[in-house]
Amino acid sequence: MEQTLRQLREESLAAIREAGALDALEALRVKYLGKKGELTAVLKQMGKLSAEERPVMGQLANQIREELTAAIETGRQTLAEKALEARLAAEATDVTMPGKPVRIGHQHPLNKVIREAKEIFIGMGFTIAEGPEVELSSYNFDRLNTGEGHPARDRQDTFYFDDNDEVLLRTQTSPVQVHVMETQPLPIRVISPGRVYRKDEVDATHSPMFHQIEGLVVDEGITFADLKGTLNELVHRLYGPETRTRFRPHHFPFTEPSCEVDIECFECHGKGCRVCKGEGWIELLGAGMVHPKVLEGCGIDTAKYSGFAFGVGAERMAMFRFGISDLRLMFENDDRFLAQF
Ligand code: PHE
Repeated sequence: MEQTLRQLREESLAAIREAGALDALEALRVKYLGKKGELTAVLKQMGKLSAEERPVMGQLANQIREELTAAIETGRQTLAEKALEARLAAEATDVTMPGKPVRIGHQHPLNKVIREAKEIFIGMGFTIAEGPEVELSSYNFDRLNTGEGHPARDRQDTFYFDDNDEVLLRTQTSPVQVHVMETQPLPIRVISPGRVYRKDEVDATHSPMFHQIEGLVVDEGITFADLKGTLNELVHRLYGPETRTRFRPHHFPFTEPSCEVDIECFECHGKGCRVCKGEGWIELLGAGMVHPKVLEGCGIDTAKYSGFAFGVGAERMAMFRFGISDLRLMFENDDRFLAQF
């Protein structure tokens, strides 16, 4: 029996040393040490031995069992280390390889001009005011001297939320004028950029949602000359000092006198072309001296104070600024378009 045991030890240790994978090691463990394993089979023969031989063989068998167990454990560790090394080698990062470029976004052309305009006005001492896009019709209309029956209040032109026509999506940023006059101390010098909504069909120059920048100045001794100077400054800073402006008489219920301001066509410089439809001028904004009824409605003493207001279409501002011919391009989010700015 001793012979058998020693042979088994030689053979099994050699096999364990040769094993090249974890499952092969496990198979060897079962083969030699398992319930039906070879060592176990030898041990079952112990009963046939003499009383002197039995403890000697028992000790030898136990020793072999321990050796095999230890050899298998060592084999396992070696294989695991090798596997880890192989993985590290395979997954090694070459830090000298050029990286994958990350695409960096930039501002939308619309936000670009709005930001430019903010900078220009902040430089002139204005602050930024905000107002709600969901507005009461009293702010959007009544308090801007736009009473019942005015065509701007028509359901064809405006998005209402309720049957009483009391809550709507603001059609202009002008209601912010009223919010500011109600809450801020005089003198006032604010601009307020934001979204406005009208029931318009989408085409090259119309959209049911667009942006305006409202402006409001109220102080002692404000005249139309202040309005002209401020808006000329805006145009010259945005479009260059040589750009000419034209102030045309117009009507708005909340300003008196009122005007529309055109700038010389950026395409033909006044000669008349396709962009300006032969006019030589393109309309940029509406403006005027704040109507006394509007000031008084906000508790401002018109004997002492006067003011001017204006509302610029931000999309138009961007279209002129960057030579964009179609308003829809601003909202389509086509990367080939946006990447150009
Ligand atoms: N709210 C006017 C519009 O949407 C523009 C405007 C603003 C006119 C302020 C005068 C004063 O057309």
